[in-house]
Amino acid sequence: MKTTTNLLILFLSLLMSACSQNKTQDAHKASAVFSINSNYLLLPIEDNAPEIKMQVKYNDEQPVEVINLRLAHVKADYWVKLDVANYKGSKITIDFENTDKNSWGVINIKQSDKFEFDYNETYRPQFHFSPEYGWMNDPNGMVYLDGEYHLFYQYNPYGTKWQNMHWGHAVSTDLNSWTYLPVALAPDSLGTIFSGSAVIDVNNTAGFGKNAMVAIYTSAGRVQSQSIAYSTDKGRTFTKYEGNPVIPNPGIPDFRDPKVFWHNESNQWIMSLATKQTISFYGSANLKSWTRLSEFGDGIGSHGGVWECPDLVPLDYNGKTKWVLLVSINPGGPNGGSATQYFIGDFDGKTFRADALPYPLWLDYGRDNYAGVTWSNIPENDGRKIFMGWMSNWDYANNVPTHNFRSAMTVARELKIANNGKHLVVSNYPVSETKTLRALESAKKDVVVEKEVVLSNLLDKNKGTYEIEMTLKPQNAGIFGFMLQNSKNEELEFRFDMTTGFFSIHRHKSGLVDFEGRFAAGMNAPLVKKDAYKVRVLVDKASAEIFINEGELALTTIFFPTEVMNKLKFYTKGGKFSAEHIKIYQIK
Ligand code: FRU
Repeated sequence: MKTTTNLLILFLSLLMSACSQNKTQDAHKASAVFSINSNYLLLPIEDNAPEIKMQVKYNDEQPVEVINLRLAHVKADYWVKLDVANYKGSKITIDFENTDKNSWGVINIKQSDKFEFDYNETYRPQFHFSPEYGWMNDPNGMVYLDGEYHLFYQYNPYGTKWQNMHWGHAVSTDLNSWTYLPVALAPDSLGTIFSGSAVIDVNNTAGFGKNAMVAIYTSAGRVQSQSIAYSTDKGRTFTKYEGNPVIPNPGIPDFRDPKVFWHNESNQWIMSLATKQTISFYGSANLKSWTRLSEFGDGIGSHGGVWECPDLVPLDYNGKTKWVLLVSINPGGPNGGSATQYFIGDFDGKTFRADALPYPLWLDYGRDNYAGVTWSNIPENDGRKIFMGWMSNWDYANNVPTHNFRSAMTVARELKIANNGKHLVVSNYPVSETKTLRALESAKKDVVVEKEVVLSNLLDKNKGTYEIEMTLKPQNAGIFGFMLQNSKNEELEFRFDMTTGFFSIHRHKSGLVDFEGRFAAGMNAPLVKKDAYKVRVLVDKASAEIFINEGELALTTIFFPTEVMNKLKFYTKGGKFSAEHIKIYQIK
């Protein structure tokens, strides 16, 4: 009898504790119903609030997308929007997890016909692509079609930190200025939309239509797998293929970033895919069914982190085709965090073989050029291999001091094979279109620098967007260089060290640096000793890209000065050097 009573008590108390747990969970789930009468629902976001999950039910339909967002707790740092224009007159229910119905964030969701924010915030670049608002990382699906360069990109429309990967979309006719288009691909039941590429299916191999634009991307759900979607209206709308995924996950956690091109010689589509710390190649006749061909990367190059975002690119060198394999890696870059290494070799339609070169070789030794790949379908009479990278680094990308948006892309750059005097390299240099951005030129007299020379006024109305061109001749200087400076003693230093054979950038005094511990560190690149270095620097508010000898050496850095840097100081630490043909261009 006693045992029975005890058992009964135990049962009742278990039941009660289960009920009370349910209650707590209920208390942390909130549902809010909105009768829509405006174009947008505006949601308040606080960058330091914890992420919660939210699901939107339109007209009581089952929600398809789980949105992770930092719904504000006490104040809105900024707002994001849900476009509800098509639901005017009906009801929308939003379910929140770990959120109280009466929490500040839920109560303050508002309806509006406008979505307004300060687009021209301090560090908004002027001639580099940046997302209108929200977070951006890798460039995706870059493809040219009928006069338009398409740029898709990893995009979070619900916050300025990495989350909820969509493909954002923009187009340009000149690679300099961009028009924002609506999001191209949104998460679905297979997962969020990670990086990938796009091709024009000229021969309708997939059956989606002649000249269909086909996007090949990673579905990042419980596992990573490869999917496709197509557009027959020049990328304006995409339909996901019902047979997705086209390459299911074979048991490799890091299995992503498909980059596809048509290989004439073997008459098939070739996909390069990042598979943990190697690149796997796949072949296909129709973009839908894929065969694994080979794998590259064991025991060669840098392996300090996971391999990502490959691109296999044919480049002409002295009338012969050399194949370049770009591989982004994070961490493990030469100066910490993320960077893009490359291999030069041959590809026979099945296997990539790398030439013997002093690997790892890096496309850009700066800390802020990652996940870059090339455009597909560039017309034959143009023939350029045009590259664009993400101008940030996973070490600190989520914390850089911008407000409504985060990150920008590099300028479009042309890839070539060059000889740097020691070995072959892949040079990357701004496409010629960037020269049309030059608005006003101010030529400066040549200088011979024995200690220091300061050009105190680069431009009369310097808005922080300019370009410097000059030739530096080391003469007998050991360590020399130049700095961009402002009146607040902030400086960005570019240093040539002929004694150690290194070129470096130092940004620890460049303005805001302590938003992340790993940001202030400098960056070094091997420098081949020469009598003259042709230098070109593109500055756009919060970024500087330096190209030495037409991009044989390239470094990209972001920086956050609290006042425009309008002074150029040349210095040497012994010996003298000259700076010749100095030109400063204001950029439109
Ligand atoms: C590279 C990367 C890719 C991935 C994407 C996710 O920066 O990690 O490998 O597809 O970002 O946003």
